[in-house]
Amino acid sequence: MLTALESSTFLDPLRLLEVARARFGIESWRPGQELTIVNVLAGGDTLAIMPTGGGKSLCYQLPALEISGTTLVVSPLIALMKDQHDKLEALGVDVLRLDSTLTPREEVAALERLARPEPCIAYVTPERLSDREFRSQLARVKVGLFVVDEAHCISQWGHDFRPAYLGLGEAVRELGRPTVLALTATAPPRVKDDILAQLDVRDATVVDIGLQRPNLRYHVVKAQTERKKRAVLVRLLERMLTGSTTGCGIVYAATVKNVEALCTFLQKCGIEAGMYHGRMRSREREEAQAAFMERGEPRVMVATNAFGLGVDKANLRFVIHYNFPGSLEAYYQEAGRAGRDGASATCVLLYQPDDKRIQSFFLGGRYPTPEQTKSVSDALRRLGSAAEAAGRETPALKDLAEAADVPAKKTRVVLSFLKDAGYAREIGGTQFAPLGDEPPDEPALQRAATRYEQKRTQDRARLQSMLRYAQSHLCRNKLLFSYFGYAEDAAEPCGTCDNCVRSREDSVERAFAAERAERRRVHELTAPVPMPAHVTDQESLSAERRALLEQTMARRRARANRARALRVERAAALAPRCSAFVTGDVVRHPVWGEGEVMSVAGDTIGAFFPGHGEKLLKAQFLEKVLEA
Ligand SMILES: Nc1ncnc2c1ncn2[C@@H]1O[C@H](COP(=O)(O)OP(=O)(O)OP(=O)(O)O)[C@@H](O)[C@H]1O
Ligand SMILES: [Mg+2]
Ligand SMILES: [Zn+2]
Repeated sequence: MLTALESSTFLDPLRLLEVARARFGIESWRPGQELTIVNVLAGGDTLAIMPTGGGKSLCYQLPALEISGTTLVVSPLIALMKDQHDKLEALGVDVLRLDSTLTPREEVAALERLARPEPCIAYVTPERLSDREFRSQLARVKVGLFVVDEAHCISQWGHDFRPAYLGLGEAVRELGRPTVLALTATAPPRVKDDILAQLDVRDATVVDIGLQRPNLRYHVVKAQTERKKRAVLVRLLERMLTGSTTGCGIVYAATVKNVEALCTFLQKCGIEAGMYHGRMRSREREEAQAAFMERGEPRVMVATNAFGLGVDKANLRFVIHYNFPGSLEAYYQEAGRAGRDGASATCVLLYQPDDKRIQSFFLGGRYPTPEQTKSVSDALRRLGSAAEAAGRETPALKDLAEAADVPAKKTRVVLSFLKDAGYAREIGGTQFAPLGDEPPDEPALQRAATRYEQKRTQDRARLQSMLRYAQSHLCRNKLLFSYFGYAEDAAEPCGTCDNCVRSREDSVERAFAAERAERRRVHELTAPVPMPAHVTDQESLSAERRALLEQTMARRRARANRARALRVERAAALAPRCSAFVTGDVVRHPVWGEGEVMSVAGDTIGAFFPGHGEKLLKAQFLEKVLEA
């Protein structure tokens, strides 16, 4: 235990800032860092939710130097571990990687090092940590701080859900309950609760500083066809690359095929672009990553979203999403890789309304149906028993898929479920054998089907929010805030997103139009009343006659005005009130604030209010702020 005096110097923020300065070259704290670091050093479990690029790594790197024993960091990707490892090594921090790339001898050496009490940071993947044998070896290591980076991966509601993360709560208990620090940029309320529950740290301090990234300009560009989308991409890249002379950017595409096709297309258009995806050989991939990260060569990288997660490149000036992401969380994470140096950066989402991928997402093509689940389970039993009887190898995934008549990807999903539920055994990642003699019973298969159904519903809801973001006329920053569960008034309109810029331009345009109308009105009031055509010689009219004529003309004009006003009033009374609103109008409600019209049926308007959700209400309660 620390004495009061020791603990007060130990936790003194000024002294800690000195250490941060000396070891990491940091001048002042970023929001949330000080609180998180002090809390962690005081032994308090903490969940820190800070924006992408907000400086979450420092929240464990600094405490790691101060506590005795190892700081074990669970990290989702080997590339990310490598990036952080190399940076820390360059700073002279004692750091290790415990991933599958280590040879057995290297692993023994690493564990030997960890058994010593001097501070050290060790990175590990959740898959490695779920290996029982590896865990038993870790038993000799004193873990002082247990860190879960990208903690949203723990939550089944998180967009990157990884089953191996589910074992982390158990790992924490086995390691003797060290202080736990979970870090993420994207934790809507449900995900936040899930992280705390999974890690069994329900009383953890939550440091949540929101999504503040004022330097990011969010834009959405609609393109009706693939060809137009490509043309937009070329225009955007030309503008971005000539706009700054050193900045780089990423173009994200959804699949390996798209990445390859886009890269070739850009090169044909004379735009030099690198390429990164999971099917490249690891040497090539590493070279492509290093060239882009270290030298910015070439300045554009076309990649699948595995590229850049948590990787720290300061001068990314733009991130363009060529394909539609599946959720706002994923979009915010990926777009947030731009502008980590704090200088302004642009995040563009290209949106093609009839994108086939979006449609197929909605049709729920990703999860097996109950029939497919049963079919794979039957095929496994049939082929497995036959192979065993004939003394042949256990059936391979592709044979099972063929026998069940279910696509390979979905067959894989069902087999994973059967494995988790104790009905199947996996051999070498491609072959499966049934376990036990009894086939899974109906309730077990039903459970699997329910789980897929939940996932499907959840995916649809996520995609719906993403679509809303793309189609909305409201401030994109405010939409993000409301999606992540922050109060609507936590964010002012950003003033820099496409919608804010457009609404400013509209209001300037409206102000001009109002001024023009006012000028016309004043002119009409003050202009001399024209005389009837037959009065040719005005000079010859007597003063009385002239006054009389003017009065008649004024009366006639007033009558015409009244008639016009009456016509307008009658038309308004006859037309249904709702005709004043169309989809896309920005409206204001006295209680829910600003929202957007989603549907119009008679005088019932469906409108979406950030922070309050979708409401159905009568048109009379809404005031129009901006026309679609
Ligand atoms: N207080 C600070 N002052 C200046 N720079 C800082 C500070 N804290 C962190 N940084 C720098 O900010 C950059 C981003 O930090 P970091 O990689 O920790 O972000 P992150 O929050 O983990 O983001 P992501 O969600 O993308 O993983 C790093 O280059 C880091 O050195
Ligand atoms: Mg990070
Ligand atoms: Zn805005």
